[in-house]
Amino acid sequence: MIRRGELFIGDGENEYVLMQGEAGDGHIFAPLELYCFPEDPWSAEMFELSLANPGCMALIVQNRQMTKNVAYGVLYSAADEADIANIAVMPDCRKQGIGRALLSKMIEIARSGGALRIFLEVRESNAPAQSLYKSAGFVEIGRRRKYYSSPTEDAIVMALCES
Ligand SMILES: CC(C)(COP(=O)(O)OP(=O)(O)OC[C@H]1O[C@@H](n2cnc3c(N)ncnc32)[C@H](O)[C@@H]1OP(=O)(O)O)[C@@H](O)C(=O)NCCC(=O)NCCS
Repeated sequence: MIRRGELFIGDGENEYVLMQGEAGDGHIFAPLELYCFPEDPWSAEMFELSLANPGCMALIVQNRQMTKNVAYGVLYSAADEADIANIAVMPDCRKQGIGRALLSKMIEIARSGGALRIFLEVRESNAPAQSLYKSAGFVEIGRRRKYYSSPTEDAIVMALCES
């Protein structure tokens, strides 16, 4: 569905391209994950398990020269539902609109695959991500007590439903 190197967002020097992760790419995602979630990162093996799942699409955003990975996202789809398992932007690339653009792309992919409802979980303390999700139309639908570890924290469950 995603052509490798498809133009993604931006203009001039701030263009980014989108790549779809494939089996064997776990070692690309794991270091990004470690930067973005140092307290509880997925390992390369965990990414490989996801990449082997036919319902999973893992995306990498790179700079235009394809010399730097700046963001990634993991989406699961099944029947008419999808789940955004992860989305993260490298710390030095945040607040430039990359997270919003990547989330929009993931929503577009989920919907084009037939998803009527898209779910995600987010740490109770993660105000930047909650703000991003709310601005994209996600609403809180529940909580999972002590869902996260390191540190232990509740998850807010959010959903975006076809209107
Ligand atoms: C959440 C995250 C993906 C946002 O990526 P980003 O590229 O910085 O976001 P954008 O520049 O596209 O900003 C989009 C919106 O996100 C929200 N946002 C981003 N950073 C924020 C911050 N520091 N404080 C509050 N809101 C913030 C705002 O609503 C923003 O819209 P605005 O610019 O109109 O105010 C990024 O902060 C990140 O990778 N965090 C660590 C990983 C993470 O927590 N992932 C989510 C797991 S559920």
